[in-house]
Amino acid sequence: MTIDFLNTYIEKINRWLPEVMPERAKRAAVIYEGMEYALMAGGKRIRAVFNLIGSEIAGVKRDIVKPFACGIEYIHTYSLVHDDLPAMDDDTMRRGQPSCHIAFGEAEAILIGDSLLTHGSYLLLESMPGIDEKNQLNAARYLLEAVGVHGMIGGQAEDVDIDKNQSVMDEAKLAYIHRHKTGKFLTGALVSGALLGTEDESIINDLTVYGESFGLAFQITDDILDITADEITLGKHTGSDANNGKLTYPAIYGLDKSKEMVLKEIKKAKNAVDKYGVLGKQLADLADYLIDRKY
Ligand code: IPE
Ligand code: IPE
Ligand code: MG
Ligand code: MG
Ligand code: MG
Repeated sequence: MTIDFLNTYIEKINRWLPEVMPERAKRAAVIYEGMEYALMAGGKRIRAVFNLIGSEIAGVKRDIVKPFACGIEYIHTYSLVHDDLPAMDDDTMRRGQPSCHIAFGEAEAILIGDSLLTHGSYLLLESMPGIDEKNQLNAARYLLEAVGVHGMIGGQAEDVDIDKNQSVMDEAKLAYIHRHKTGKFLTGALVSGALLGTEDESIINDLTVYGESFGLAFQITDDILDITADEITLGKHTGSDANNGKLTYPAIYGLDKSKEMVLKEIKKAKNAVDKYGVLGKQLADLADYLIDRKY
C-alpha cells in the first residue's frame, strides 16, 4: 500500500532536515558529516509526520512547526545511532547503509548521536511564528519526557537487560519494553504536535489512545520484520533480535498470534481518531499501511 499524502509529507521533511542543521564550524567535521549521513539516509519519517498531523488537528498550519517536527526526527535518528552501537544491539546496517559506528568509528558515533539529541532538543525550542510560548513549552516538555527515562530510555534499559537464564516468559516486561521504547516516542510526537495549538483534553486523550496502540503495533511489526523481511528492502540486517536473545512478540507469542495482536491494536487506534475528518482518515490510513509495511 502506498499513500500519496505520506509521500508529500516525507518530501517536505526531507527538504527541511538539512536546512535546520547546526551551522558548520571549522573543527569537528566528522560530527556534521555523521549527522547528515545518519539523518539523510532515508527513513519513514513517521514521527515527524505524526507531529505535523497532530499540530494540524489542533488548528496549526503545517509549515509553522517545521523546527519542532525536524527536532523530533533528529532525536529519533540519535536513538537509532546509539541503538546500533556494539554495546547495544551491535547492528552494522541501518537505513540501507553501514551503521554510523561502522562508517565513522564507535567514539564518533556516540558523539554524533549526542549531537543529534542536543540539536534536536534545541530545535524544539526554536521560535515558531504564531505559536503560543506556553504551548510550545508544554509540547517540548511532553516530547522530552517521552524520550527520557519515563519513556524511550526506560524501554531501552529493560530491552538491554537480557536474562540469559530466563525460563518464564516475562510478558509484563515485554509489554513494558515495547510500550516504552517505541510507543512513548510515537505518542509523544503526535501529542506534542497537538499541544502546540491546544490544551483540549479530549483531543489529547484521543491522540494518546491512537499513539499507544499504533506504537505497540509498530514495534510488534518491527519484531516480525526482523524475522520475515527481505534485508535489502528493510535496510537493516534481519535476525538481530534472535542473535541478541531479545524479548520480542514473535519469540513469546509466535508469528501468527503477533500478527493478530497488530490487527487488534490497529483497530483500536483507528477507532480513537475516526471523528477527526480528513486528518483522522490520514491517521487511519497510516495505521493500515503499517500492517503491510515491508520496511
Ligand atoms: C526504527 O524506527 C526503530 C523502532 C522503534 C522500531 P523506524 O522503523 O521508524 O525507522 P526509520 O526512521 O524508518 O529508519
Ligand atoms: C527500537 O527497537 C529501538 C529504539 C527505540 C531506538 P529495535 O532495536 O528493535 O529497533 P531496530 O530494529 O534496531 O530499528
Ligand atoms: Mg534495540
Ligand atoms: Mg536495534
Ligand atoms: Mg527491531
